[in-house]
Amino acid sequence: MRKPIIAGNWKMNKTISETLELIEALKAPKFDEGVEVVLAVPFTSLSEAKKALEGTGIKLAAQNMHWEEQGAFTGEISPLMLKEIGVDYCIIGHSERRQYFNESDERVNKKVKSALKHKIRPIVCVGETLEEREGGQAEKIVKEQVLKALEGIDKGDIEEIVIAYEPIWAIGTGKTASSDDANNMCRLIREVIGNKYDDTTKEKIRIQYGGSVKPSNIKELMEKEEIDGALVGGASLVAEDFIKIVNY
Ligand code: PGA
Repeated sequence: MRKPIIAGNWKMNKTISETLELIEALKAPKFDEGVEVVLAVPFTSLSEAKKALEGTGIKLAAQNMHWEEQGAFTGEISPLMLKEIGVDYCIIGHSERRQYFNESDERVNKKVKSALKHKIRPIVCVGETLEEREGGQAEKIVKEQVLKALEGIDKGDIEEIVIAYEPIWAIGTGKTASSDDANNMCRLIREVIGNKYDDTTKEKIRIQYGGSVKPSNIKELMEKEEIDGALVGGASLVAEDFIKIVNY
């Protein structure tokens, strides 16, 4: 049985004090214990968030990292820095990073390897653009992204990885992929893992859907066999909505 995992991706939102306010609001109710809850907050909020989340069971994620441990990389954050804070997960290869910050499949792969080495669990994002979907290329693109991200990764590490399927045309647009389309792509990703590794490994990896997830569509998505969770952007910034999503 794969434990459902719902992660809030706060993106470039919330100062430290705002982070603490939102965490306070999320702490009040009881989250469903059957769901692993993760918050991906901005780098500047990680330390304070870690303290505020103590004893809640909620996991902490960074939204990006460099693959090197240290060095002349102005403005970057290394896995050692994240590890010292006690970060559990790191989002890697989010489409906004691919689109605005030249994040290539090769860099995604380096980051995944580095995260695993430092015992930070990667949430690897893949997904097609609208143009690619309309051109019938969606499956090919997603398959390539998955294979490139996992190049050189051992079977034993696959369980540590979460894959987030996020069609780019559904992110922040209010348009959600239909639950069937989302499920089909998650199934394809699982097949790709099965072909590269084996059937046991394919059953272990958790695959999230992301892209305009909200309280009104989470239940239908989570009912699908291949969808093990969600990566939630906009709706994770509103405590009430995020709580409803986790307790779907
Ligand atoms: P959204 O973002 O929920 O606002 O569409 C999802 C994401 O980018 O992870």
